[in-house]
Amino acid sequence: MQNTPFDLQGKTFLVTGASSGLGQQICIRISEMNGTVILTARSIKRLNETLSKMAKGDHKILPADLTKSEDINSLVAELPKLNGVVFSTGLSIIAPAGFISEEDYSKTFKTNFEGSMMLSNAIIRKKRIVKDSCSMVFISSISTQYPFVGGALYVSAKAAMEGYARILALELAPKGVRVNCVSPAFVRTQMLDQTANNFSDEVVQKIEGRQLMGLGEPDDVAYPVIFFLSDAAKWISGTNLILGGG
Ligand SMILES: NC(=O)c1ccc[n+]([C@@H]2O[C@H](COP(=O)([O-])OP(=O)(O)OC[C@H]3O[C@@H](n4cnc5c(N)ncnc54)[C@H](OP(=O)(O)O)[C@@H]3O)[C@@H](O)[C@H]2O)c1
Repeated sequence: MQNTPFDLQGKTFLVTGASSGLGQQICIRISEMNGTVILTARSIKRLNETLSKMAKGDHKILPADLTKSEDINSLVAELPKLNGVVFSTGLSIIAPAGFISEEDYSKTFKTNFEGSMMLSNAIIRKKRIVKDSCSMVFISSISTQYPFVGGALYVSAKAAMEGYARILALELAPKGVRVNCVSPAFVRTQMLDQTANNFSDEVVQKIEGRQLMGLGEPDDVAYPVIFFLSDAAKWISGTNLILGGG
């Protein structure tokens, strides 16, 4: 794998949401491609579980609650220069528009949008990026393009993230920083289990039936993210790749 543009040797990446699901799998695959990972999320125990599944390296755990500005500041203060960031923090609260509470709005937007936005802008402000060799990847959702009933909060927060990522791509291009989104359909993770609990079996089967290649596996997202992080994607910025299983 060494000496190919996909190799991540000598590069350091921050992965948010690293304690679970897609973030965890992304950490594992980066480490297998020889990259170094800074893992963040709230649960130290589950971050250590991720670490135990990764290939050996100088990886580091820096726990933070991204809904708290003081946590973001202390996280950024400890960061080395980064060749990339993957924003995989998220939660899904399902509620029909007439039943949206202020608390759920605040929780969804703080976790799914504001935390990633404030973290990315602190990383830029504090110059934690390697100029001309940095790639940011935001995990959005296919639901911004194929919305679902009850998804008002989740879909709006992800749409805000996509808009932000496009602006970031414009603003950071002169510094050689690439910014892209990936938009997965349903993938087997803890989030899917929680989301499925909010729907009847019939609705879940309908969703599965719409994905022609079935539900995704975490690797179906992790490998495309690795591509965006690597030099193989060095001329790609401002895009949003649908990972939808057909
Ligand atoms: N799974 C899918 O089908 C699917 C489809 C499309 C898009 N996505 C998106 O992909 C991303 C990852 O989803 P997933 O399926 O991997 O979900 P997951 O397994 O539930 O993981 C969510 C991650 O976010 C972290 N997190 C939640 N609140 C946080 C906070 N306040 N501060 C810091 N970290 C926080 C969690 O860690 P702690 O609890 O330890 O903090 C966890 O590591 C999300 O943005 C999701 O919207 C998922």
